[in-house]
Amino acid sequence: MTAEKRNTYKAQKRTDYKAPNFTATDIDLTFTLDDTKTIVKNVTRFKRLTSDAKAPLILNGEELKLNYLKVDGINYKFKETKNGVEIPSVPDEFTVELENEINPSANSSLMGLYKSNGTFCTQCEPEGFRRITYSLDRSDVLAKYRVTIIGPEYGCGVLLSNGNLIERGTKKNRPYAIWEDPFPKPSYLFALVAGTFDIVSDTFITMSGRKVDLELYVDRGAYERGLWAMQSIKDSMKWDEDRWGLEFDLDNFKVVAVDFFNFGAMENKGLNVFNSVYVMVDPTCATDTAFYNVQSVIGHEYFHNYTGDRVTLRDWFQLSLKESLTVFRDQEFSSDVANRALTRLHAINVIRGPQFAEDASPMAHPVRPEEVMEMNNFYTVTIYDKGAEIIRMIHTLIGESRFKKALNDYLHKYDGQAVTIEDFLCCFEESAGVDLSQFRRWYTQAGTPHVKASWIYDEENKNLVLKLSQHTNPTRDQQVKEPFYMPIRMSFLDKEGHDVHPAELSSDGYIILNENEQEYRFTLDRDTLPVILRDFSAPVKLDAPYTMEQLQHMLSFCDDAFIKVDCATTMQNRYIHDNLEIAAAQSVLKEPAELIASYKAILDSVDSQSDLILINETLKIQSIANLMETFDKINIDAIKYAHDALETKVAVSLVNEFVELYGKIRASSANYSVADMGRRAINNSALHMIAVAKCAMDKKKEASDIVLNHYNSSKNMTDKLQAMTDAVHLDLECKTEILKSFEKDWSKDALVFDNFFRVQATVPNKSAIDNVKKLLSHPSYDGRNPNRVRALAGALALSNPVALNDISGEGYDLLCKQISALNDINPSVAARILTPLLSFRRLDEKRQGMILNNLNSLMQMPKLSRSIYEKVSTALKE
Ligand code: PHE
Ligand code: ZN
Repeated sequence: MTAEKRNTYKAQKRTDYKAPNFTATDIDLTFTLDDTKTIVKNVTRFKRLTSDAKAPLILNGEELKLNYLKVDGINYKFKETKNGVEIPSVPDEFTVELENEINPSANSSLMGLYKSNGTFCTQCEPEGFRRITYSLDRSDVLAKYRVTIIGPEYGCGVLLSNGNLIERGTKKNRPYAIWEDPFPKPSYLFALVAGTFDIVSDTFITMSGRKVDLELYVDRGAYERGLWAMQSIKDSMKWDEDRWGLEFDLDNFKVVAVDFFNFGAMENKGLNVFNSVYVMVDPTCATDTAFYNVQSVIGHEYFHNYTGDRVTLRDWFQLSLKESLTVFRDQEFSSDVANRALTRLHAINVIRGPQFAEDASPMAHPVRPEEVMEMNNFYTVTIYDKGAEIIRMIHTLIGESRFKKALNDYLHKYDGQAVTIEDFLCCFEESAGVDLSQFRRWYTQAGTPHVKASWIYDEENKNLVLKLSQHTNPTRDQQVKEPFYMPIRMSFLDKEGHDVHPAELSSDGYIILNENEQEYRFTLDRDTLPVILRDFSAPVKLDAPYTMEQLQHMLSFCDDAFIKVDCATTMQNRYIHDNLEIAAAQSVLKEPAELIASYKAILDSVDSQSDLILINETLKIQSIANLMETFDKINIDAIKYAHDALETKVAVSLVNEFVELYGKIRASSANYSVADMGRRAINNSALHMIAVAKCAMDKKKEASDIVLNHYNSSKNMTDKLQAMTDAVHLDLECKTEILKSFEKDWSKDALVFDNFFRVQATVPNKSAIDNVKKLLSHPSYDGRNPNRVRALAGALALSNPVALNDISGEGYDLLCKQISALNDINPSVAARILTPLLSFRRLDEKRQGMILNNLNSLMQMPKLSRSIYEKVSTALKE
């Protein structure tokens, strides 16, 4: 066999779905836990579903050692295959009893049953259950589970599984517990946890007066760090009742924080398992953003209880069905309980950064994909976040009250079933009385629509005539794109900055664009300005011919948070694009005069009464990553040069204003609150701009002093991290002292210490590569822990385009070396940090060549994982 032959995997097609021949009705599992040799006894009741009496029972199983298997108590003929077992002739209803062995300690992929810092835990979505025991491991087989856990010989604090505790005690010197989940569920929602924790307990009284016991399991000694997550659980439960009328359905709800986890968290029925980064916070160790994220991820997993668990997926091509709806729900939760503008702006940034990048990459896929090789590769910003934008558009089109009714009808109609995106859409059409036939293209066509706007004034009819057109570039899977159906939220501003509402605009304030080109007429005075795509009402790239003056006008007067921020962003983009050639020649750039004028006006009027969160977002200089997405072909050096010039010019011109702001706005305490998050955010932005300005003005020592003072005088991690970042990224004198102090305080606290790695891996120049190389051998680094990997190689790959793409090629080499090491350890994490390399064709020829070499050598690797194979082979096909 040639090397290429050796590494081939086949894709599954959505249209190849076949209903299962059998279902499992009851699954009774007994785990005898042991670090290296856990015994699983599995007694499952099966039932034939189809009339095909000859169909064999085929059970999935991976990396299992089978001890015995019996059908109805008898030794049947069966066949062990590469992917499980096949039992050729079985009755219509029967019981399979089997026993298999697994080795949790050797499981570094973190799928199935594994050990995380001493704790036994499971991860089954999407196809991890087959690494625990033989089963029909597919989401459309729903069974009731009874689980007996016998603790390891050396003892163990708690033994947990889904549902209700039936019994617990000690037998033959070993602790045991028996759990029963009353709700039938697919295998991907199964969970088991065994370990010793600190437990935060509380209760919640539901809207019908039932008491739910809440338990949150955190690292020993970290009780305090679990309190915010517990509060977030209660807030989520209350919000789901208040906003959608959804009441929790079990008598207890458990959340466990574990240190080793591939993604953010997992919605296992009644027993959510979390990456500890989304649980463990207190103000001294975690930033405001971390607090905000904990609340939103706790919400997300909790909301899955209805959108995902009670109504689940027919097959994995439907993943967005549960994720998009649940992301939409968690965004609405954060909007209602934290801050709507901030939540919306964050979501929009994900779309305009990583999602637009994905849509423009070889791995571009529709929100409902047609072909998948490795499902783990499809937990993407397209499936999750673009999916959520689609749900948001439906919400815009039908309004809150019809949406609420349709959601309830959907959950009611399909309760306890495994369904499709099509089922969801049909239900919404019927319930809300809308026609979503053209709208469905959002699920079937990949790629980002470009919307072009233009307008003229028709003096004769006193009409503003608005023209909109849309175009979507071809993607690998689809050459021709049909027009999308999209709501475009609009308003109009007159010369004085007042809102005017023309008769032609509906009271909902949006128009529909659903053809390649459309014209709209509004009866308005001359010089009225159309404000287009308020609240980012559709996930598109908008190109509108606003003058700089008009952008300034909207920035001052428009009442929409997105439009305000977008005006500032557009002014920045214009500047970067207009100056790119000068930047490429490393010459002197002109002043961004209009932007500075707008910023000065904002800064002059800030006081403690202002909407600080929104102002801070408006003042932000865009990330290089998001700037890259405004170009088709990427000249990374020029973009970086122009970005830095822009930031420096703004900082230097407004340094007095930033100094005043820095002195004026302070948080009222070191604790997290939404108000203090805003105060700290703007205070920290001011610090950053002051430091940038001082460096540019040859006053680096002053920059260092103020940053060091910021670090030392605050007890809050948001402040400390800002100071550490500025010290390291601007290479200030205080850098060594701050890093030393941080290391002394936190090197034993892995989660907090990830910041030490991340900050050094994201220095926006070549030195980040050396930092990463050096830190890989830091005593606190552990290449098997995904959080550490994400903080070092992952940060270089996903948050540092400048160093990754350094012209030396060392960034690519380093990343690919890490990826090949991870290929055997944890393919899912490896494939994720590979992502930026896939878009190599957008770079210059030299960089293309260097990446291509690296991708080709990855392809030659023996035992290349399916995850990496799918991504690299797809990229090479382009
Ligand atoms: N379903 C999880 C979520 O909410 C994500 C996840 C997928 C976690 C696969 C682990 C493994 O969003
Ligand atoms: Zn989810």
